[in-house]
Amino acid sequence: AEELANAHGGTALSLDFSKTTSLDVEATDILINNAAVNISRVNTIDVTLEDWEKNILINLTWPFVLIKKFIPYISEKEIDEIISTLADQLNKDFEGKNPLFIGVLNGSFMFVSDLMKKMKIDVELSFVKFQSYVGTASTGKVSELIGLSADLNKRHVVILEDIVDTGNTMGELLDLLGSEQPASLSIATLLVKPDVFNKKYVLHYVGKNIPNKFVVGFGLDYNELGRNLKEIYQLADNNQHD
Ligand code: IMP
Repeated sequence: AEELANAHGGTALSLDFSKTTSLDVEATDILINNAAVNISRVNTIDVTLEDWEKNILINLTWPFVLIKKFIPYISEKEIDEIISTLADQLNKDFEGKNPLFIGVLNGSFMFVSDLMKKMKIDVELSFVKFQSYVGTASTGKVSELIGLSADLNKRHVVILEDIVDTGNTMGELLDLLGSEQPASLSIATLLVKPDVFNKKYVLHYVGKNIPNKFVVGFGLDYNELGRNLKEIYQLADNNQHD
C-alpha cells in the first residue's frame, strides 16, 4: 500500500480491483459495500460499479484512511431534468428583460454552465465569490465579495447558487446586491436544505429540496474535493470515521 501511495504522490489513487483484490496492511479495515465514492481529506479513491457489486473488503492504512463515504444520490439525468425545468421557468419569466445572471463561485460553476446552455433568451452572465481572510483581532474572520464589476442598477438580476443551506451566504449576498438598486433581484438555486433554511427571504427558483445531509459532486465539494463528479453524492449515514 505504501508503494502505491508513493507512486501516486500519496494524494490520489485509483484502485484496480481486477489486479488488486486486497491491500494487506495492518491498520483500519473498511468494507466498501455500496459506496460509490469515498473522499478523505488528502486522498480520493475511485471505486467502480464492479467493485461495488463485489462487496470487496479492503484493508487500508495511512495515507488511505477513508473519512467520508458518499453514496449516489442525484443522477446526471435527474440533474439535467432539474436544470431544464429551471431554464424553462427563467426563459419564460425573463423574456425581453435581458437579465443579468450572477453565479456564486466556486460551487455553482457546473450548474451555471449547464443552465446557460439551456437559456434561449438574451442573458448576461457574471460571477462573484466570497473570499474569506483573517481580519484584525477585533474583526476576526472577514468575508469579502469579489468580482462584482457589472452595474446592477435597474437590471433584472438573478443569483445562481449551487446550494442554500442555512441561507446565511445568500442573505449576505442579497444585502450586498440589493444595495445596488437592481430592477429586480431573484434567486435560482439547484438545491435547498429546507430543514436548515430558516430565513425570511424567498427562494424564487428551486431545483430540488434535499434532506439535511452533506452532498458532493457537480461543483459541490467536500474539503475542495469531489467538484469534478458528474453526479451528486450524499454522505452515507454509517460513516465509520466521522
Ligand atoms: P449557507 O450559508 O449555510 O446557506 O451555506 C452555503 C454554502 O455552504 C454553499 O454555497 C456551499 O458552498 C456550502 N455548502 C452548504 N451545504 C453544502 C453541502 O451539502 N455540500 C457542499 N457544500 C455545501
